[in-house]
Amino acid sequence: MAEKTLVILISGRGSNMQAILAAGLPARCGAVISNEADAPGLATAASHGVATAIVDHRDFAGRTTFETALAAEIDRHLPDLVVLAGFMRILTGAFVDRYRDRLINIHPSLLPAFPGLATHRRALEAGVRIHGCTVHFVTPAVDSGPIIAQAAVPVLPGDTEEQLAARVLREEHRIYPQAIRWICEGRVALEPGGRVSLKQMRDAAGSLASPPPDSR
Ligand code: GRF
Repeated sequence: MAEKTLVILISGRGSNMQAILAAGLPARCGAVISNEADAPGLATAASHGVATAIVDHRDFAGRTTFETALAAEIDRHLPDLVVLAGFMRILTGAFVDRYRDRLINIHPSLLPAFPGLATHRRALEAGVRIHGCTVHFVTPAVDSGPIIAQAAVPVLPGDTEEQLAARVLREEHRIYPQAIRWICEGRVALEPGGRVSLKQMRDAAGSLASPPPDSR
């Protein structure tokens, strides 16, 4: 199978990007592109020997001209997969359509719960017992789209937003590279109804519960 090419889009810290670059995937990263010139993730990408570029949305009159420039930068690398990793711009339907079925995102909640921002605070406020993260194909609606992988973590008594975020982030760093590996291996298929089927995957055994079933 020919090696796949990734382009990763970031806006900030880039810890998911780093997890992807460090995972030894059967893929090469053509570039990491940021819309923020001072994103700390740019230096991390460079330290992995990956080319970086900045396309600052403030340099453009509107979303469409920004996205035209962003797409031109992405397309130079002929990516098989465009990976959103903490990229904090809402994308238009035209941009999403251009990368249809090869644009993925990670979101810090168990979608469809808590789309949007401040997911950990909202999970705490809602009193959910289980929270987590989702890797999904991107569709024009924000934080929706066919789900590839999810990981759940318990919400523990007394958790702060930061503690819960850190617990979820550890899982993000595990499932995002794993999902990209599955895509590179051709094990992820998009079904007509907008759902994902996974090939050659072990079934998850048992159930996830928090508190665990034997708690008294
Ligand atoms: C992560 O929590 C990710 O789920 C969300 O934005 C955050 C980015 O963190 N989309 P990092 O830049 O990958 O460290």
